[in-house]
Amino acid sequence: MKGRVFSGARPTGRQHLGNYLGAIQNYVKLQADYDCIYCVVDIHALTTIEETGSIQGNIHEMVLDWLAAGIDPQRSIIFVQSQVPQVLELHALLSMVTPLSWLLRVPTFKEKARLQPQNVNYGLVGYPVLMTADIILYKADTVPVGEDQLPHLELAREIVRRFNSIFGPTFPEPKAYLTEAPLILGTDGQQKMSKSLNNHIELAANEAETRQRVMSMVTDPQRRYRTDPGRPEICNVDHLHRLFAAPAADEAARLCRVAGIGCVEHKAELARLLNAHLEPFRQRRAELAARPGLVKEVLGEGARRVSGVAQETLREVKERMGLL
Ligand code: TRP
Repeated sequence: MKGRVFSGARPTGRQHLGNYLGAIQNYVKLQADYDCIYCVVDIHALTTIEETGSIQGNIHEMVLDWLAAGIDPQRSIIFVQSQVPQVLELHALLSMVTPLSWLLRVPTFKEKARLQPQNVNYGLVGYPVLMTADIILYKADTVPVGEDQLPHLELAREIVRRFNSIFGPTFPEPKAYLTEAPLILGTDGQQKMSKSLNNHIELAANEAETRQRVMSMVTDPQRRYRTDPGRPEICNVDHLHRLFAAPAADEAARLCRVAGIGCVEHKAELARLLNAHLEPFRQRRAELAARPGLVKEVLGEGARRVSGVAQETLREVKERMGLL
């Protein structure tokens, strides 16, 4: 039997190269070997959100990107977390077997509490419990995530072990599947690529926008003149180039070191490469976007397909916990 993959992502709107190389690409690949469930975690988004008016639009744009990138709704399930409300019931039940001390020492909680001291809400503390509920509601065994999510997965396993030991074996212990997620820096060459820092390159941007973003990239700050030799090992243009075309990047790096290629030329080359690479994606995305109601249909169908499993798991949990 195939293993079951579950992963979730917050609705952040149009996806960028960092999202693609870190998560989406892996989601697409895993479809060959697993039954995959991919969830847009809109309730999780509420733990930090400032503005709820953008959630629906963000869901739409993100799902279009997923579909255009090759997540196939015939093979995999794509759905929105809040559309299968059993997860909230399971969250409440799991909260009864989760010691508060476990949650208070989760590094992401401590970090968020530091970043938003004015909004350390109850939901933020329970974030990993809701994440556990996401995964085990479908008895998923494999969870593709980046390294930053490992403490959450460890907690999920602890909650499962505790539940199973109190109420009898019910859930498999979900394993993190560490995806190969190269750290993608933004156009500033300093910080992780992210929409909130506005240092990102959107997959769905048009050619001119992409070119403009790439041309704005910060290269080796010590290379001030065209005749200065550069240091590709600290240059994000080199790093991105490498991810899309390693042999060509080797050659450009060799030239960069001897001032045989300038930063402007190198960036123009990267822009051309990205545009060529993303062209089929953009075409598919435009086709999908032109089909009215498509995203809603995919998400509605996804929610329908998982809700039977969700109901069955919840019934089992309630029975084990003495509620039925
Ligand atoms: N916490 C994850 C993130 O911030 C998102 C997420 C929510 C998730 N539920 C999940 C990931 C379940 C994997 C499985 O990226």
